[in-house]
Amino acid sequence: MAELRATVKQVLSQLAESREARYYLTQFSSTDRMHFAVVKVGGGVLDQQLDALAAALAFLRNLGLMPIILHGAGPQLDAALEEAGIETVKRDGLRVTSPEAMGVIRPVTYRANRQLVTALERQGVRAQGIQHGVFECDYLDRDRLGLVGDIRRIDLEAIREAVDRGVLPVVASLGESATGQVMNINADFAARELIWAVEPHKIIFLTPTGGLLDESGRVISAISLRTDFDYLVSQPWVHSGMQLKLQQVAQILEKLPDTASVSITSVENLARELFTHRGAGTLIRQGEQILELDEFSESDAARTATLLEQSFGRKLNPGYFDNLPISKVLVSESFGAMAIVLEGVDGIPYLDKFAVTPEAQGAGLGAAVWQALIQRCPELYWRSRVDNPVSPWYFEQADASFTRDGWVAFSRGVRDFARLQRCAEDSLAREPSWQEKSDDD
Ligand code: ARG
Repeated sequence: MAELRATVKQVLSQLAESREARYYLTQFSSTDRMHFAVVKVGGGVLDQQLDALAAALAFLRNLGLMPIILHGAGPQLDAALEEAGIETVKRDGLRVTSPEAMGVIRPVTYRANRQLVTALERQGVRAQGIQHGVFECDYLDRDRLGLVGDIRRIDLEAIREAVDRGVLPVVASLGESATGQVMNINADFAARELIWAVEPHKIIFLTPTGGLLDESGRVISAISLRTDFDYLVSQPWVHSGMQLKLQQVAQILEKLPDTASVSITSVENLARELFTHRGAGTLIRQGEQILELDEFSESDAARTATLLEQSFGRKLNPGYFDNLPISKVLVSESFGAMAIVLEGVDGIPYLDKFAVTPEAQGAGLGAAVWQALIQRCPELYWRSRVDNPVSPWYFEQADASFTRDGWVAFSRGVRDFARLQRCAEDSLAREPSWQEKSDDD
């Protein structure tokens, strides 16, 4: 116990924001042990990063968390089959599995499984390889695919027993038919079925790239399926592999509660992904509906005040909500991200407040509200202090800006010069809505 506490302390001190880390540790420990996470490890990661992988998983175990690990062995199988002179044939992306191929696949998968178990034990963590008895299969298409299994039933007993004993379960993607014929299962299918059976809070895909990449090769931090899915799959730069991944994830999350989330990350970034708001990887959630309010009911006003005061770190003027000339209010369901738009000059909407909590930012809700905002307001203007940490981001969003006396007036979509000028003047002349230190917004 003392040792555990030492680990926790060490970890928390390593993470810059230990309050954040504690927040997530509490969240992840609050469900019963079985439901923390399913971690899917690709065969490539297992092959190339075995010790780092084991260390990252051991770290979670030492925090008292019990991830359920599922692995594939794709690259190992490719190499071993080639060595055995058996040609790899794929149909519909699935490995056609002849009896001879199975003769190679089975021992190679066992070996990959044992390697991870051994590596975990080297880290001082007890682990148990589970190579049978989880996935009961039928032939997916015996004539075309051979011994490829279609999962019919999942038996969680072996996994549950391991978790109860505090031993990390390491599950291979092999199954059996009802009569005991061993079958090869695509690791993504195995992961999906296992996730549905376990219903974990977190689903983690460990990959070498550590996330889904955008147009310019940067990791996309967060995707909220409700608001981003259609847009993303219609983008020309979203190649077929990424489309498939998005569809898979959407399908997985569809059957889980909204609180579940998928993180695609790398071994190196796993701890940062899990224990910070910002994360390091791609977080995918069902996301929240973005609601449009016409007015502030008493309870909406109270929640809004809390959000604004927390994110800006100051008190609103007591009369802020009285006679507010609302043009549009957009807010995520949880009130974690919000835009308040007022009537401005020349009928152009003025963005009076844009506020996002750190958690909502990490979940991609700030971006979702912003997206909804610019869709609804093709013309928009707003202001911020030059030294506001969000200003650089505002510069990216705006297509015109004007700086004076420590303030920046921004706009987007306003074309006419005279109107542009009236917007800038109006935003810089507006009264602050905050008490004390009345020079900030
Ligand atoms: N730590 C939180 C989680 O794992 C948030 C992660 C945010 N990650 C991201 N890539 N935006 O649920």
